[in-house]
Amino acid sequence: MQNLWYKNAIVYSLDVETFMDANGDGIGDFIGLTQQLDYLSGLGITCLWLHPFYPSPNRDDGYDVMDYYNVDPRLGTLGDFVDFMQAAQERGIRILIDLVVNHTSIQHPWFQAARSSSSSPYRDYYVWSEHPPATDPSELVFPDAEDSIWEYDEQARAYYLHHFYKEQPDLNISNPTVRDEIRKIIHFWLTMGVSGFRVDAVPYFIKNVVELVAQYELESFLVELRQYVSARNPEAVLLAEANVESQSVPLYFGNGDRMHMLFSFFVNQKKFLALARQDATPLAEGLQQLPDLPRSGQWLNFVRHHDELTLDQLSAAEQQEVFQAFAPDPAMQIYGRGIRRRLPPMIQNNRQHLELIYSLLFTLPGIPLLRYGDEIGMGDDLSLPDRDSVRTPMQWSDQPNGGFSQAAVEDLAKPVISEGDYGYQRVNVAAQQRDPHSLLNWFDRAIRIRKQCPELGCGQLHLLETTEPAVLAHCCSHPSGVVVAIHNLSHHPCTIALKSNPYSNLADLFGDQSYEPLQDSLTIPIAAYGYRWFRALDIVGYVRSNQKGTN
Ligand code: NOJ
Ligand code: CA
Repeated sequence: MQNLWYKNAIVYSLDVETFMDANGDGIGDFIGLTQQLDYLSGLGITCLWLHPFYPSPNRDDGYDVMDYYNVDPRLGTLGDFVDFMQAAQERGIRILIDLVVNHTSIQHPWFQAARSSSSSPYRDYYVWSEHPPATDPSELVFPDAEDSIWEYDEQARAYYLHHFYKEQPDLNISNPTVRDEIRKIIHFWLTMGVSGFRVDAVPYFIKNVVELVAQYELESFLVELRQYVSARNPEAVLLAEANVESQSVPLYFGNGDRMHMLFSFFVNQKKFLALARQDATPLAEGLQQLPDLPRSGQWLNFVRHHDELTLDQLSAAEQQEVFQAFAPDPAMQIYGRGIRRRLPPMIQNNRQHLELIYSLLFTLPGIPLLRYGDEIGMGDDLSLPDRDSVRTPMQWSDQPNGGFSQAAVEDLAKPVISEGDYGYQRVNVAAQQRDPHSLLNWFDRAIRIRKQCPELGCGQLHLLETTEPAVLAHCCSHPSGVVVAIHNLSHHPCTIALKSNPYSNLADLFGDQSYEPLQDSLTIPIAAYGYRWFRALDIVGYVRSNQKGTN
């Protein structure tokens, strides 16, 4: 039977380049990250997702890979990586790495060979056309930088396909030799001990844009990827970056024979619409639209990550509502569809509101993703270009450069936030470790309690009907128990009346404050932006025949 460890993992993501610089050159490195593993272990995370750390010209912050079998020398060596893996293993932290195989860097030797001659054995690693079709603007991922997904290459005397920057030519996934290269990359890193991959840009693998090359059942590529992974390590997982509508979700999970996990892009957009309206209805509707997953499937919930907060699945009017609430200035928006801010500045650093949003992250069906700095409430730097606004270095202390690096300020890979409410002098790990009421200590508790509620990761979701549209009431039930959670998205306190509640004996587990124990499980008081997690005591210890979980 497969080990479903990931169904209750606590995932943390970071970029080695901006986490901790051990040798003082201004660039984070594997030795620095290894030194900070005790911090991550203390926080309670169980799985770490590393952004690309491969040699790269860095046109797209490492998502343009030049060599799949190495560590960028700016960040360390393969030897440092092996030491890091061992230190993570000793602490019980599993490692996921980015698998970026929709495209390479233009500087990858494959592309250099491919462009040099039409008879090169590498020519068909990429997608070429002499007369490419016009690009529909909706196909552009980076509309500020590109106006076509085809670029003419003088040397090749042909156009090549690139969905992302022109420096990222798309690989021809329909070519079996390319697939074999991908298999080798997967096997290499599994042999190095990683527990799986965050697979970049998955929908682009299977987009039907390659009529020009031999048509192959591209969907079957997802099955093949799973086979490559499971053959080498049955515990390893594939986490797909696939921002797709709910109807397309089954294509990615298959029968439990494709991806193990997907980022919950769809629900996240509905969640931000609900937060903007202070009305839980869009979120509840979004959750209801999700298809059932195969037993081995899981959602990875997130609030923000390293890219823009995309709103592309909302209507134009809904997008405007979210922009108005959280990013009214055009400088806070990006690509006409997203927000390039971290969460605290979006909500004026309102602590109650922050806790509410992270409480949702921990309790919605699936597992939570934290991004470095979320746990201390780091802000953004809108003076930096596009998504760099949310990629500033980790703030460890009030020492120069926030304790991230001993280098001169001008040598830092990315500037540290050093002014205002979010400057490292005010927002840093060291100060929050000492303060029992800090956000960091809140995360510590939330993670501890979340780990005691595996039902949230593998139970069956039921929405409970309430009289208050601002409140989301849901429960996750599993043969091992039931957890009920109530979230008030509005800044007004209220008392909700549940239309029905199968559980009559609810004990508070966690909340925004210490509430009086419930007298009646149908009437639940909740503060402004309040949240309450309960365990249903009436069903502990026996299995309800009508409550089959997914695991
Ligand atoms: C998704 C990554 O998250 C993003 O940062 C990158 O620009 C694109 N894929 C292209 O690799
Ligand atoms: Ca360094």
